[in-house]
Amino acid sequence: MQVVETIPALRAARAALSGQVGLVTTMGALHAGHLALVAAAREENDATLVTIFVNPTQFGPNEDLSKYPRDLPRDLALLEAAGADLVFTPTPALMYPPGFQTAVAVEVISQGLEGGHRPGHFQGVATVVAKLFNLAGADRAYFGQKDAQQVAVIRTMAQDLNFPLAVIVCPTVRESDGLAMSSRNMYLSPEQRRAAPVLYRALLAAGESYAAGERNPEALESQMQAVLAGEPLAQVEYVSVADARTLQPVTDEADSPLLLSMAVKVGVTRLIDNMLLPGELNTRAGLTQMLGGEPPAP
Ligand code: PAJ
Repeated sequence: MQVVETIPALRAARAALSGQVGLVTTMGALHAGHLALVAAAREENDATLVTIFVNPTQFGPNEDLSKYPRDLPRDLALLEAAGADLVFTPTPALMYPPGFQTAVAVEVISQGLEGGHRPGHFQGVATVVAKLFNLAGADRAYFGQKDAQQVAVIRTMAQDLNFPLAVIVCPTVRESDGLAMSSRNMYLSPEQRRAAPVLYRALLAAGESYAAGERNPEALESQMQAVLAGEPLAQVEYVSVADARTLQPVTDEADSPLLLSMAVKVGVTRLIDNMLLPGELNTRAGLTQMLGGEPPAP
């Protein structure tokens, strides 16, 4: 496994890779969710390129940029064991040198849900991912369902700007009690950690009533709210029932696939989770069909 820090070194190492390349972009503090993306990239490509970069432009002024967990030696050991071929670990100064002034704004699909609560977040994400796509020259890029709106934004950007790669979406990897793995889970106290699986329980409750025939979006939302209300440590930021492809809110009884999603604070830690309905869509194929996308025809 080769580790490069600068853009010229990345370009040279990328040029030396042969065959199809799979890209996994991360902010480090790696866990099994990230490693599942690396495993998928390895399976489906000849070489796997992983990026580790805590991107400052996607953090709001009151967010956790300075205390975001960082442990590069541990991350590199995990990536080596996972079989990554090339790892890019740039600094903010190399990604945003003096005079940098370009941004990628993906308009409508960035606006609700996470975008509604984190102004500027998806512009920061889309800009850095556009740079990483250009640098990586990958055939497939792998993203996690955990950040469902993020991958829908990136799929839209890739389509709109004609990036010649497929955007693949892999299912959320969870702890045994259902909590979605996240680098931010390490902020939780033991008591908060015990409360945190309430997000997944809320999604499961709505999923069960959908499976039993419930199609009213308000009823599905109330059901999630009711489960969340049962956990005193959980402070709901939003709970949403949206169209799984457009991410626009659904108001009438829906027969097209849905994205249930939520952001909930447990103490100061903000947790997100989501699920597609019907439940059979929560697979690599279903998720990629709804949230990801194929490359433009050659
Ligand atoms: P980060 O939060 O490090 O996540 C990197 C990738 O891992 C994302 O595609 C994310 O959706 C995926 N991921 C995180 N937790 C997961 C889980 N429990 N199961 C499956 N996949 C999971 O997302 C980012 O970094 C950044 O915004 C980035 C895309 C790197 C741009 O800076």
